[in-house]
Amino acid sequence: MIYALLRPLLFRLEAERAHELVTALFRATGRAPLLPRLVHALYAWDDPILAVQWAGLRFASPVGVAAGFDKRAELVDALALLGFGHVEVGTVTPRPQPGNPRPRLFRLPQDAALINRLGFNGPGMVAVARALRARRVAAGPVVGVNIGKNRNTPLERAVEDYVAAFVALAPLADYIAVNISSPNTPGLRLLHERAALEELLRELSACNRALPHPRPIALKVSPDETPAQLETVVRAGCEAGVAAFIATNTTLARPGLRSPLAGEVGGLSGRPLAERSRAVIAAIFAMTHGKPPVIGVGGVAGPDDAYAHIRAGARLVQLYTGMVYAGPAIARDTKRGLARLLRRDGLTSLEDAVGIDVCTAGG
Ligand SMILES: Cc1cc2nc3c(=O)[nH]c(=O)nc-3n(C[C@H](O)[C@H](O)[C@H](O)COP(=O)(O)O)c2cc1C
Repeated sequence: MIYALLRPLLFRLEAERAHELVTALFRATGRAPLLPRLVHALYAWDDPILAVQWAGLRFASPVGVAAGFDKRAELVDALALLGFGHVEVGTVTPRPQPGNPRPRLFRLPQDAALINRLGFNGPGMVAVARALRARRVAAGPVVGVNIGKNRNTPLERAVEDYVAAFVALAPLADYIAVNISSPNTPGLRLLHERAALEELLRELSACNRALPHPRPIALKVSPDETPAQLETVVRAGCEAGVAAFIATNTTLARPGLRSPLAGEVGGLSGRPLAERSRAVIAAIFAMTHGKPPVIGVGGVAGPDDAYAHIRAGARLVQLYTGMVYAGPAIARDTKRGLARLLRRDGLTSLEDAVGIDVCTAGG
């Protein structure tokens, strides 16, 4: 309702400026005296049917914020007020870096999509660690930290960047997401290749074992791999003991877009990605039967998309682009709709719906 008025104004601004304005509003919300309570009253809504567990973590609901929205770990609690059960911060690189030249984020309203080529702009791991430490919240959403490499680190030394970011951030995170799938850091997706991936996961697992409390490590995959490549990645991930696959990042494909900016270089997210992401979720679920689970992301804009991802095999879902188009009520509305859909189908818990379509298809 409020967003119906705000959105046309925001959409007049250049897309990244609008994001900066929204994040400034979120930060201010957290600091104002009574506003957090008001926002919570408007947007918080939970139902026990939606509760999910993963790797010893309890999620009040399966709906979380995908990586990229809060690269600096400064919006976690504001996003929780909107009803998200988890927030994935990042991608965080070891050193600060500016990312690609602007403009680098584009709206495609006719397609309910975005194209971005931000290129891991961010303040670096030291600043993000400081922001995470500064949170003074006893209870809150599950916080994941998504890690990556700096652009100017040669690919042969990528593991060193991931290890540095892991060591700095894992103790402050509930889980770590290893991002090998952003299309905007040259060569990053080559880490899907078996030998490179095995080495990366081996080193991170060793660091993890050295922690007093090892963290679940999730591997975030690209939607643009061939079935054979995906199978290799899933096998390597399972052998290394990853705790989840996050499917998927943005795509380089341009499936039948209508918007004038469809030709921009970068990763496409939002509605046109949903079907592809769902196919990847289902393919992984068919290989793993949910062990380890899949976190489904790509084109979730409401309860129907979230439910379809869950039925395709996702235990948790995340979204980013949907919030740009639907606004701050998206978590609440998605959760309400999901609870309704589960009851309509005679299910008593969300976990009963996970992969239901894939199981049926496989007999
Ligand atoms: C502007 C923007 C920035 C993003 N930055 C990151 C990032 O830093 N790391 C990452 O793993 N994914 C990043 N993503 C990808 C999202 O986390 C998500 O995988 C993708 O957008 C699909 O979800 P959606 O359709 O709900 O947006 C970004 C997406 C957008 C739109």
